[in-house]
Amino acid sequence: PKPIEELSIWDDAKAMIAKARAEGIETVHERLAQQTPHCKFCELGTTCRNCTMGPCRISAKMPRGVCGADADVIVARNFGRFIAGGSAGHSDHGRDLIEVLEAIIEGETKDYKITDEAKLKALAAETGIEVEGRELKDVATDVMENFFADFGSRKKEISFLSRVPQKRKDIWAKLGMTPRGVDREIAEMMHRTHMGCDNDAPNTMIHAARTSLSDGWGGSMIGTELSDVIFGTPTPKMSTANLGVIKEDKVNILVHGHNPVVSEMILAAARDPELVEKAEKLGAKGINVAGLCCTGNELLMRQGIPMAGNHLMTELAIITGAVEAVVVDYQCIMPSLVQIAGCYHTKFIDTANKARFSGAIHFDIEPHNALQQAKEIVNLAIEGFAERDAGRVDIPCEPVEIMTGFSNEAVIAALGGSLDPLVQAIAAGDIRGAVGIVGCNNPKIKQDSMNVELAKELIKKDILVLVTGCVTTAAGKAGLLVPDAIEMAGPGLKKVCGALGIPPVLHYGSCVDNARILQLCAALANALNVDISDLPVGASSPEWYSEKAAAIGLYAVASGIYTHLGHPPNILGSEVVTDLATSGLEDLVGATFFIEPDMVKTAEMFDERIKAKRKGLGLSE
Ligand code: SF4
Ligand code: FE2
Repeated sequence: PKPIEELSIWDDAKAMIAKARAEGIETVHERLAQQTPHCKFCELGTTCRNCTMGPCRISAKMPRGVCGADADVIVARNFGRFIAGGSAGHSDHGRDLIEVLEAIIEGETKDYKITDEAKLKALAAETGIEVEGRELKDVATDVMENFFADFGSRKKEISFLSRVPQKRKDIWAKLGMTPRGVDREIAEMMHRTHMGCDNDAPNTMIHAARTSLSDGWGGSMIGTELSDVIFGTPTPKMSTANLGVIKEDKVNILVHGHNPVVSEMILAAARDPELVEKAEKLGAKGINVAGLCCTGNELLMRQGIPMAGNHLMTELAIITGAVEAVVVDYQCIMPSLVQIAGCYHTKFIDTANKARFSGAIHFDIEPHNALQQAKEIVNLAIEGFAERDAGRVDIPCEPVEIMTGFSNEAVIAALGGSLDPLVQAIAAGDIRGAVGIVGCNNPKIKQDSMNVELAKELIKKDILVLVTGCVTTAAGKAGLLVPDAIEMAGPGLKKVCGALGIPPVLHYGSCVDNARILQLCAALANALNVDISDLPVGASSPEWYSEKAAAIGLYAVASGIYTHLGHPPNILGSEVVTDLATSGLEDLVGATFFIEPDMVKTAEMFDERIKAKRKGLGLSE
């Protein structure tokens, strides 16, 4: 494995990697070293195992698989399935929220409720449902049925296309890219990539884009919006981040995964007076819930719960030795956490039947039993407090302050009720443009080095940065999520953010909440009567690793947003697919991917793009 200094920019991470090595505990970094070098064919995307005439590998000497598929077909098929996997993840998460809404409507649960009635009504009106003079329950029922229908096969287009500028919808219609139903597009992607179906790489890529659009404007957007309805729409608030949020004198429970349906209940249970009293009787100064990854982002945005860390901190958080329980729902949870928890007194608890971990304690959290199950989980954590070995506890730092809670509703409220002041700030050039930096960590990259450097480079150029997912913690730890961070920004951004008392880097939520950024772009485009591709905006995922991140990148591009990736997906084995992704899509959808590992250059690329788009809108550079 690499020297510790090369693995992360953070002191808390480096201290815990050193502790892991001293204690003989294996982490992601050791396993990456064992797996390196990786299979070249797989890296290029030119392996196929879609049937048992193969598996096949493509090279100059063997240019076609047994069936006759060439590198272009195989790379496109593999990429298409990769996108289907990511879209399925976000969208199945969205569906779970519809099922919770259903349980609320049918009276199956008292643990969840409709918290933001106004938002529910607004969503109903936006998606063509009558609101005036109707019972809330009837409106909610129609919203539920409509969103369930968005997953099926009977619609010509999904509901939230009501938000998309007409010019963009026309492009999609012309290309056959209009997302019709979430499950339909994902299933069709699997069908198309079966042996003997879609054997034309560009055609497969178009459907991959359609599949990703059904995620961004479908499954993810439903997930975000119904989470707001059920748990409340986020408003700006202060919180803290890094491993210092774990408290030596408290029962520490880390929630990890993506869906607030579980983590909100754990939080509610941890606030139960009886359980708090029990923790205190056992010598703790209370119960501390902190977040990891995206379910952490969900609790942070809505409840101000502190964030212990992002993807590459999940193993390391347990290594503090002070964590009584890690409670997970699904996605991005390294199975190694079970082994690492086993090296300490930490209980690893899974809660979803679709995401079980061998060796974990399992609870089936369903809407009807959620709070009661959550209380049992919290009770287990409390009882574990006595088993903690004080000699192995090391919490390596003090937490840093962060500001969170920037939903579009909150931003519009802060701007006095409309987007006009934002449009004016963009027109005046105080805010030259905006870039969303999203996604993950990847152990192949020094943790958060690129996430942080890109954000700093962009705000210097008066480009507003929106962060979600694992980039949140990166930006927070770098001091970019507090109002004082305007000192690191250019003069225009400093002026605007200073006047509003907000940071130049705004926390916009979890990964499904990238739908909030899509919605903002659509609203800006509609306000200016242009297409999204005409806006001075961009997207980036510098340290991405997952299928979901690729789906996000592709729906951003297909929505007309110029999108940076720090390293390529496994597509370089096909010139056709690579050229399409990095240039050909520009002619089709008005945006492409660009791949660039250097963040100074990346910021310059965004700067050039923003200049060109500003010029196109008749604005100064
Ligand atoms: Fe090989 Fe074709 Fe089968 Fe893929 S589908 S494994 S390329 S024979
Ligand atoms: Fe995420």
